[in-house]
Amino acid sequence: MSRRRILVTSALPNANGAIHLGHLLEHVQTDIWARFQRMRGHECIYVCADDTHGTATMLKAEQEKTTPEALIEAIRVDHARDFAGFGISHDNYYSTHSDENRHYSELIFNRLQAAGYIFTRQVDQLFDPERKLFLADRYVKGNCPKCKTPDQYGDNCESCGATYDAMELTSPRSLISGATPVVRASDHYFFDLPQFEAPLRAWLAAGGAQPEVANKLAEWLDGGLRAWDISRDAPYFGFQIPGTTDKYFYVWMDAPIGYMASFANYISTQANGLDFDDFWSADSTCEVHHFIGKDIVNFHALFWPAVLEGAQFRKPTRVHTHGFITVDGTKMSKSRGTFINASTYLEHLDPEYLRYYFATKLNGTVDDIDISLDDFVARVNSDLVGKVVNIASRCAGFINKQFDGKLTDKLIEDDLWQQASAASDELAQHFEAGDVARAIRRIMELADQANQYIAHKEPWARIKDPALRDEVHGVCSLGINLFRLLVIYLKPVVPSLATDSEQFLNVDSLAWEDAQQPLLGHQVNKFKPLFQRMDRKVLDKLIEASAEEAGSVAEPAAAGATDSKNSKSKQATQDDGYIHIDDFNKVQLKVAKIVAASNVEGADKLLQLTLDVGGETRQVFSGIKAAYQAEDLVGRLTVVVANLAPRKMKFGVSEGMVLAAGPGGDELFLLSPDSGAQAGMDVR
Ligand code: MSP
Ligand code: ZN
Repeated sequence: MSRRRILVTSALPNANGAIHLGHLLEHVQTDIWARFQRMRGHECIYVCADDTHGTATMLKAEQEKTTPEALIEAIRVDHARDFAGFGISHDNYYSTHSDENRHYSELIFNRLQAAGYIFTRQVDQLFDPERKLFLADRYVKGNCPKCKTPDQYGDNCESCGATYDAMELTSPRSLISGATPVVRASDHYFFDLPQFEAPLRAWLAAGGAQPEVANKLAEWLDGGLRAWDISRDAPYFGFQIPGTTDKYFYVWMDAPIGYMASFANYISTQANGLDFDDFWSADSTCEVHHFIGKDIVNFHALFWPAVLEGAQFRKPTRVHTHGFITVDGTKMSKSRGTFINASTYLEHLDPEYLRYYFATKLNGTVDDIDISLDDFVARVNSDLVGKVVNIASRCAGFINKQFDGKLTDKLIEDDLWQQASAASDELAQHFEAGDVARAIRRIMELADQANQYIAHKEPWARIKDPALRDEVHGVCSLGINLFRLLVIYLKPVVPSLATDSEQFLNVDSLAWEDAQQPLLGHQVNKFKPLFQRMDRKVLDKLIEASAEEAGSVAEPAAAGATDSKNSKSKQATQDDGYIHIDDFNKVQLKVAKIVAASNVEGADKLLQLTLDVGGETRQVFSGIKAAYQAEDLVGRLTVVVANLAPRKMKFGVSEGMVLAAGPGGDELFLLSPDSGAQAGMDVR
């Protein structure tokens, strides 16, 4: 097979919160694929970056009294460290706020404009007269125009499900200043997507996306495409649109260009002899693969290929879309402790446990992926420890102690080895197609066969009979060779286990084709335990720590982080189940007055609040430290869940939960009643 030249990417994480299980799923998926390609001898470059632009970054920097640049750089460093901790083999982890990205964003825009794909049109939008900025949907709330439910965001109603324009809300208010927004007109730049229907259809027909995704996209194409608004008004943290003074590229315009920019930066900072045009020119023979989640399909499989086509660049070879993570069947939840950050995980558990477990679940479809905590522990221990490593530990002792660490010159029971070696083609097909789960099932079958063979041959019994010495040598040498095959096949998934095994096997870095030749007459090293059993108690500690980290703040209702999220395809977002009004009535909400607030020693995120709930005092730990200074809160009214069972936390007992809104991460807005409300009042 000729050597392929491949560029792979994972979606650029938003620079507004920590790396969590969802991001990890995607980067592990991408990394397995990239490592597999490299083991096959292909050139495979894996780049990523943080997605930094948008109103949210600007507001957060203001709030933290820093510059957006300083804010995003600190986050980028954290993200890169977290990914490195999970063995993600990015060749470059860059930022969309870079010279390269500005360059390619301008270049692409200029080309699109010159070719007649850009037009301007006036757009009416809600404007915050106090903060002097246009309000994205997630920064406005008001009463639903259909069912009148108060407190609904600017795009859709959580109560009746209606979708509408923010200007249709009644009694709207800006979530940034609290002011009543006004309608204002402004010129926006549009990308003329409908001109690209034919090339998009051709791209899909050529296998640009998985079949299920392609079907969905075909529906959108059939329904008719609409021009895409790619500009935002100042003030905005981003890149100015060439030829304007007060217009910026919408974050989703420059974000995918960040893939190019990270690659360009990789080329310019490493003397690697790579050429940008080889990979990105319209006639490129290299491959480009994007790995993304199902919520951002429209950006990658409609807008992005069309933009590339219009700007005379190549289109992606394939967009690989995955589903969303659930834990024990439900969405990751901060209060349940299943919203697990990468850094918290790394404080407790071996990253390869998670890489392996994800691998058993990744099947190349867009189905959601459920992490079952019991199953997680069981799979890791029974497969990696009980099946794979067990083979080596059963055989290595005899090889080391009885045969001076030397393997036989010839394999006995050659057919067993042949069979396992011949599986390499089939396994390669599964990895290539992204059906890692199927590859893992097959690999574990091979491990089962090897274990059965050794159990049947009982080297521990036979070694006692000097006449059977040669046979034991043969059995254990075969065992080590079978183990080596399993390590080759699992190497894209558990690279660090593979490195330790290579050290034991006394071999150079294993490549895929090494599965064709056994190790004969070869000296292995002393065997050291390769892998620790996973301890359920430690997993429980991780869950506890994650809940603590999230504090006792209710999970923010808004899904979005940057304003990007609001425009994510509605088709692709998950529905939350409804609850009955009786269920809601069980929740006792009360107005509370914060009478004292203090930092909690040893807790980065928590404040300790003393609440007056109408003559009764409560102590509550709340994860709002990133957003508020303790002293600023004293005297303020807020809303508390008053009948929450007291929860014992590391720092004391929390007797309730205060409510805050926010996009997730550190940006939080404590709820407060209008003036006139008094501590102890029921909230209904
Ligand atoms: N910044 C955009 C992507 C721009 S790409 C040019 C973005 N960022 S994100 O941080 O919100 O998400 C990054 C990736 O993580 C997306 O592919 C998203 O689907 C994935 N995930 C985020 N949460 C997830 C889960 N809970 N489960 C699985 N993946 C999810 O979108
Ligand atoms: Zn409604």
